[in-house]
Amino acid sequence: MILNDFIKTNNSFPVEIDELSRYKTKDGSLSLYSSNYKEAFHSNNGAIKESINKYLKPAQLDRLYNTKKISILDVCIGMGYNTGCFLEILLKRGIQIDWHGLEIDQRPLKIALQEMNFIERWSPKVLSFFDSIKRTGEWNDGINKGIAHWGEARKKINEINNSVKFDVILLDPFSPSKCPELWSEEFLSLLSKKLSHEGRLITYSRAASVRGSLKRAGLEIYSLKPVDDNTNQWSSGTVAMKNPIKEKHISNNQQFKDLSQREMEHLETRAAIPYRDPSGVKTSREILFTRTKEQLNSSLKSTSDWRKRWDTAK
Ligand SMILES: C[S@@+](CC[C@H](N)C(=O)[O-])C[C@H]1O[C@@H](n2cnc3c(N)ncnc32)[C@H](O)[C@@H]1O
Repeated sequence: MILNDFIKTNNSFPVEIDELSRYKTKDGSLSLYSSNYKEAFHSNNGAIKESINKYLKPAQLDRLYNTKKISILDVCIGMGYNTGCFLEILLKRGIQIDWHGLEIDQRPLKIALQEMNFIERWSPKVLSFFDSIKRTGEWNDGINKGIAHWGEARKKINEINNSVKFDVILLDPFSPSKCPELWSEEFLSLLSKKLSHEGRLITYSRAASVRGSLKRAGLEIYSLKPVDDNTNQWSSGTVAMKNPIKEKHISNNQQFKDLSQREMEHLETRAAIPYRDPSGVKTSREILFTRTKEQLNSSLKSTSDWRKRWDTAK
């Protein structure tokens, strides 16, 4: 069987044959495009902009400035933008950081660290973090520490001791239709258990399936407000946490809001059927196949009817 046929029929690609091509996003920051997944690593509006708007701001780190230590889990380190943005802030505050990262492919960070466009964005301390993670998979500057658990995230997550609870979980895999294994009911439930009391799981995904799984895992969910240049969007992602947000009314200054009527109704459609992976070893093809079958047999409302109703209501 020739290689391309193997790729088409297996869907569990050997990482080595993935072509990663560099491209510049609209804010000037570098990103990558994966030809395996047929997906870019970041929004075309800007890699760094996406990390700031969709991950850093919703984390509202200032609420944690009185704590001694912050634990962060970066699910899909990629080129490291999300983590980099968090470290830039936290290292200046002198709060102790306990960092864990999950990533199957070491190349995105290596590629990033060969590019001036990437290197010149970071302070020496953050660059030293990236360099250490790249070389040894670990980081220890005497105060802060970190471990990159290189490998399949569903397996490698088990290396993290159950006693570690995260204040922030950054969930940034490729989209659910391309990488369903990291959006499954089971994986999201596992991540939810790793959140600290006041912790936040943050993701760019606004998918009903993902939100439904997070709700069933017992989390309160909020919708990321669309970022400026996405005015025709109804949400830029999801923030999930164990306890409802303290402020009774979420102020305009904040990055997220309660789900709108449109979003609540989205959760009642077939789009909300979760990705299932009880064994934790299913291929993406198997997961997608099972879900499509479930959707076809489902008595839930049609997602296209929901979309038409809300698109015409605009
Ligand atoms: C959208 S990119 C992440 C971008 C990254 N957060 C950044 O700031 O640059 C998705 C990443 O998920 C990784 N990935 C895909 N499948 C994975 C798996 N099963 N386990 C761990 N990482 C995976 C890819 O190698 C890729 O680096």
